[in-house]
Amino acid sequence: MAQQYFLHNRDNPDSNKIDFYLQNGGYKALETVVKEYSPGEVIEIVKKSGLRGRGGAGFPAGVKWGFVPKYSDKPKYLVSNADESEPGTFKDRYILEKEPHMLLEGIAIASYAIQANIAYNYIRGEFVYGARVFERAVQEAEEKGYLGQNILGSGFNLKVVNHRGAGAYICGEETGLLESLEGKRGWPRLKPPFPAVEGAFKCPTIVNNVETLANVPLIINNGPDWFSSIGPDEKNTGPKLYCVSGHVKKPGLYEFPMGKNLKELIYEDCGGMLNGSLKAVIPGGSSVPVLTADEIDVSMDFDSLAAIGSMLGSAGIIVLDESTCMVDALLNLERFYAHESCGQCTPCREGTTWMVKILQRIERGEGRVEDMDLLDDIAEKINFRTICPLGDAAAMPAASFVKKFRKEFEAHVKKGKCPVKKDKSIKATHAHV
Ligand SMILES: Cc1cc2nc3c(=O)[nH]c(=O)nc-3n(C[C@H](O)[C@H](O)[C@H](O)COP(=O)(O)O)c2cc1C
Ligand code: SF4
Repeated sequence: MAQQYFLHNRDNPDSNKIDFYLQNGGYKALETVVKEYSPGEVIEIVKKSGLRGRGGAGFPAGVKWGFVPKYSDKPKYLVSNADESEPGTFKDRYILEKEPHMLLEGIAIASYAIQANIAYNYIRGEFVYGARVFERAVQEAEEKGYLGQNILGSGFNLKVVNHRGAGAYICGEETGLLESLEGKRGWPRLKPPFPAVEGAFKCPTIVNNVETLANVPLIINNGPDWFSSIGPDEKNTGPKLYCVSGHVKKPGLYEFPMGKNLKELIYEDCGGMLNGSLKAVIPGGSSVPVLTADEIDVSMDFDSLAAIGSMLGSAGIIVLDESTCMVDALLNLERFYAHESCGQCTPCREGTTWMVKILQRIERGEGRVEDMDLLDDIAEKINFRTICPLGDAAAMPAASFVKKFRKEFEAHVKKGKCPVKKDKSIKATHAHV
């Protein structure tokens, strides 16, 4: 089995305590950074490592940090995005609960790199246990001098604030998150300006995913060349957490080097299909285009999935077997997006609602022959025409489901009922689609 950096302590009840973390080399990276490196050097190291954001878009972390204006006299902020709202995704929650000091150390190093003295951990409201563990970790780190004033005698100060959200998907989108952090309704902002230039409280702000930040101490401790040697190529690097749910024998959280083969993951590591044969896989959280069974011999990295028209996204892998009704599965997804749309943009607000209505009538056996083209047309009109990517997140699965499973959609319309024997258990056991 490949070396693990996140899951190796999963069975140890003390993995989230500072003494355990320190015994295992914790906070050495922070010490090195504040004593030996300038902020600019840290940014260069992270750039060289090839670390790309684990929150969905895969943007290079070091490049983003470099966008923060160096000579601005405004305060700078670092935000750890711990909202983890993408259906099918449950990796950040693990880090918060089991490895909070990896995250905190990453937050402290990133804050030093951009010269932020306040960092926020915006955590999903439902993560009650994770919030408690994280808050205790902050207290432990403050007591030992890894956070607070004059960290390790370096003159660098950092206050980490845990900010609990109220459970809205849109507050995971970085600008919706910033509005919410400022105490307002989570309505995304038009970009530009990007948060690195004008973010929280109109000041330069870096928003990074929990898993992205937790990788940073590994890069400092082992070097950027070590990090970039993990994975298929220099643009897809580092260890990676994969969340597997759905119709497999062993669903759960897995860690492999970036670029794990999806087929191998499903059939070897996850023990294969629970019952029946594979029909489809959503590889990167519910927002990304679906793959058919014959497309799964693919490396789970940013560029390989993009090359076949999908995305690594948040690496939430949802496996569907032949008993899954694809109309029902898409309806489930679109209901979610219609419910979570903030309503600011007409294409997203109206488009998601109309897609739900159309899918409901196909499900009821009242579908029309033109409905598949209509779904496709609505998806096309949402795509790239909205303030934030939630619109695209709703459109991409719809367009791909209709394109790849059109015959099944047409059979619903022709027969006036579902042609697939439904297995309702997916909603009860793995409620993500
Ligand atoms: C609707 C929506 C929800 C999102 N939810 C999350 C989330 O829960 N966690 C997250 O890290 N990123 C989420 N993102 C992506 C963030 O906007 C942002 O790109 C990310 O936090 C940047 O971190 P990274 O560069 O480290 O990936 C979401 C994006 C959209 C459009
Ligand atoms: S795309 Fe949807 S969620 Fe995003 S701002 Fe527009 S209406 Fe709101």
